[in-house]
Amino acid sequence: MQRESFLSDDCPPMGIYETLYAFRDSFGQFMGTPGTHPWSQGFPLTTPLPGGPSLPSSVAVTWEDRFYPKAWGHPRLREAIAEHYNGFYGSQIAPENVMVFAGGRPGIFSVLAFLKNHVEVRIGSIEWPAYLDILTQTETSWRVVPFTRENGFHPANSAYFDRAGLNAKTRLLAIISNPGNPTGHTRHGDELRELMAIAQEAKNGILLDEAYELFHHSTGVSGIAYVDDLDESNVFLSGACTKGLQCPGIRVGWIIASRRNIETLSNFSSFGMGGVSHPSQLYAAELLEPKRVAQARDAVAAHYGMQRERYGAAFRNMGLTVHTGDGGFYHWLELPEGLNAHEFNRRLFKRGAAILEGFDCDMARPHAKDPSYRSPYGSFFRFSFGPLLPETFDSDVAIMAEVLDQYRADRAAGR
Ligand SMILES: Cc1ncc(COP(=O)(O)O)c(C=O)c1O
Repeated sequence: MQRESFLSDDCPPMGIYETLYAFRDSFGQFMGTPGTHPWSQGFPLTTPLPGGPSLPSSVAVTWEDRFYPKAWGHPRLREAIAEHYNGFYGSQIAPENVMVFAGGRPGIFSVLAFLKNHVEVRIGSIEWPAYLDILTQTETSWRVVPFTRENGFHPANSAYFDRAGLNAKTRLLAIISNPGNPTGHTRHGDELRELMAIAQEAKNGILLDEAYELFHHSTGVSGIAYVDDLDESNVFLSGACTKGLQCPGIRVGWIIASRRNIETLSNFSSFGMGGVSHPSQLYAAELLEPKRVAQARDAVAAHYGMQRERYGAAFRNMGLTVHTGDGGFYHWLELPEGLNAHEFNRRLFKRGAAILEGFDCDMARPHAKDPSYRSPYGSFFRFSFGPLLPETFDSDVAIMAEVLDQYRADRAAGR
């Protein structure tokens, strides 16, 4: 008999991994190997974009870099991150408002792990799958804000801070990916100003996940532009080198917050993390060189804007409903005639392709498997054009159209 494991029995990988294993079992190769079509994957191109900056190929490491890093981040990188925001968005944050993590996820996880018990989270009913796992594992309480066809998958800002039925003690923390994963909906300009104003009211806060900051026609969208007094707020902005700076592999992300909240996070780092790799932080500081970022802003917005546009047009032509906003690198799509995204995916697998099923982004679904749960997003899916080279457009569209036509024909014939 196998001995009882001392670790949790409820720690499956993020939902998408199940799809990736099923893909491998069906196609015989891992998603991402040559000949596969990584439409389910959330990574960007890691080669230079047309008109974009080159990517550093090395970083110098000296004896000082072999010391333990500072718990809150390398001074050079903290400085560069503060400047990244202040230079473009006109904010006045200090390096003490910045805490460096090994990517976006650990920052988000840490914020939620240290929330007080009377802070409740409000999150859209369609969001990035990892949030569901993070909320569950940190034992955070949350309620969903409905994302529906009727509200265009873009509820009003006020919906996140509705206090109906709450007692006076409860504090609200909205979690929003902006631009959104998987919907691409983006709050910017006056709408973002309003969101940040509400989030700075006394009993409110926000964790605004800006992983896709550069993926918008404005060439950069951040709530920091509308924060009046960061040190007196419970505003948390999450950023990373993962998407717009094209470097998921260096594992550098950060949280911007009040000095007090950053101190709590860095205290945690001192006993629970030990800081972040110096070589990675030095590499990140190079990536953030202002002239480089200026070039990246234009190139990311142009390349991904072009891809969003043409994939969207092609999907409409083949009868998919496109519910995508104007940011990010995903399309949020609905199959026609109630076709099912799970079945559609099994059919794509045979062609070496896969999508992310809407079910995985459903923040109201049970974390543990429950066959009786019916997600309202069964006919929805996310298509990622993040890792796609421009030259695969024609074959991507052809595969999608063929599989869709066949599925429709089979359904019509009762097969
Ligand atoms: C919404 C969102 N936030 C944050 C991240 C950050 O990821 P990482 O931990 O790889 O930096 C991602 C990556 O997929 C994301 O989609």
